[in-house]
Amino acid sequence: MEEKTNILVTGGAGNVGSALVEELIRDSNNYVVVVDNLQTGSRDKLPIANYDNLKFIQCDVNIEDEITSVFHTFSFDYVFHYAALVGVKRTLKNPLSVLDDIDGIKNIMNLSKNTGVKRVIYSSSSEVYGEPVEYPQNEETTPLNSRLPYAIVKNIGEAFLKSYQQEFGLDYTVFRFFNTYGPKQAKDFVISKFINAALKNEDITIYGNGSQTRTFCYVENNINASVAAAFSDLGKNKTINIGSNVETSVLDLAKLIIKLTDSKSIIKYLPALKDGDMTRRNPDITIMKGLVNQKIYTLEEGLKKVLENTSFMLS
Ligand SMILES: NC(=O)c1ccc[n+]([C@@H]2O[C@H](COP(=O)([O-])OP(=O)(O)OC[C@H]3O[C@@H](n4cnc5c(N)ncnc54)[C@H](O)[C@@H]3O)[C@@H](O)[C@H]2O)c1
Repeated sequence: MEEKTNILVTGGAGNVGSALVEELIRDSNNYVVVVDNLQTGSRDKLPIANYDNLKFIQCDVNIEDEITSVFHTFSFDYVFHYAALVGVKRTLKNPLSVLDDIDGIKNIMNLSKNTGVKRVIYSSSSEVYGEPVEYPQNEETTPLNSRLPYAIVKNIGEAFLKSYQQEFGLDYTVFRFFNTYGPKQAKDFVISKFINAALKNEDITIYGNGSQTRTFCYVENNINASVAAAFSDLGKNKTINIGSNVETSVLDLAKLIIKLTDSKSIIKYLPALKDGDMTRRNPDITIMKGLVNQKIYTLEEGLKKVLENTSFMLS
C-alpha cells in the first residue's frame, strides 16, 4: 500500500484554510490534520464527519507545549501555516496579540525542522507591501513597506521561512494573499459584511468615500494556485502573489452586492479610517497565472457563488 502524505494545516477551520483542507482531503492518499484555536474559525467549516483522512485538533499554535505534542503525534510531510490573528480592525485593536503570532511562526519552523517536514507553506499577505510605492506590486522588485504590527509579523514570518531554508535546507513556499473571499469568510470582512447587510436590507457603511480599490480573489482560485505551487518545484523556495489583478472600488463593490441581492440597503459613509485602509492594491500575478489550471472567476461570478451559500455569513 502506498504511504500516506501527512499534512498539517494550521488555521484550517478558517475561510481559506477550510477550503484548502476540502481540496486536500479529496485525495485519499493525503492524511490531513487541522489545528485551530477557533478564534475566528469554526469546526462547522470542516466536513469532519464525512472523511476518515481528516482530523481536527483544537490547539493554539502560539503555545509551544500544545503544538509540540501535535508534531510528535504525527510525522508531517507538509505544513501549511495559515493560523493568524486577522482582520484590519481586530489587528489594530490588539497589536500585542498580533505580535504573539511570532511565537507561533517560531514554533512551526522549529518543529518542522526537527521532525523532517519536507516543506512549510506560509500565508503571508499583501499587507507586507504596505501603502505601495508602485503598481503592479511585484514579488521581487516592489519594496516592502510594512508598518502595522500585522504586516510586520507577516514580514517576519517570511524572513523565518527564508532563514530556515538558508541555514537548515528546509524548503518553503510563501504566498502573499490579496483579498480572498468565499462562503466561509468570517463576518467582519468587507464582502461578508456588505452581503450580510444587503440580505437584511440594512445600511451598508463605507469608510471614507469608497474610492479605495481592492482586488478580490475567489477562494477556489486561491486554492487551485496554492496547491499547484505547494507540491511542486514551481513553488519551491518562492514567494508568490495570490490574488486578482482586477481593481474594484469599495463603493462599486457595495453597489454590485446591492444589485445581486436585489436589496433595499442604503449606502452610508463613515469617516475614513486613520490607519490600515490602503488606497489601492494591485498585484502582479504573472506567476500565479502560470499555476492556475481552472477558470479565473470575475467578482460577479464569485459573489454569485458566495450567495448560493450564505449560512456562515448570516449565522
Ligand atoms: N483572506 C484574505 O483575504 C487574506 C489576505 C491576506 C492574508 N491572509 C492570511 O491567510 C490566512 C487565513 O486567513 P483567512 O482569511 O482564512 O482568515 P480566518 O480568520 O478565516 O482564518 C484564520 C484561522 O486561524 C485560526 N487561528 C488564529 N490564531 C490562531 C492560533 N494562535 N492558533 C491556532 N489557530 C489560530 C482562526 O481561528 C481561524 O480559523 C491568515 O494567515 C491570513 O493572515 C488572508
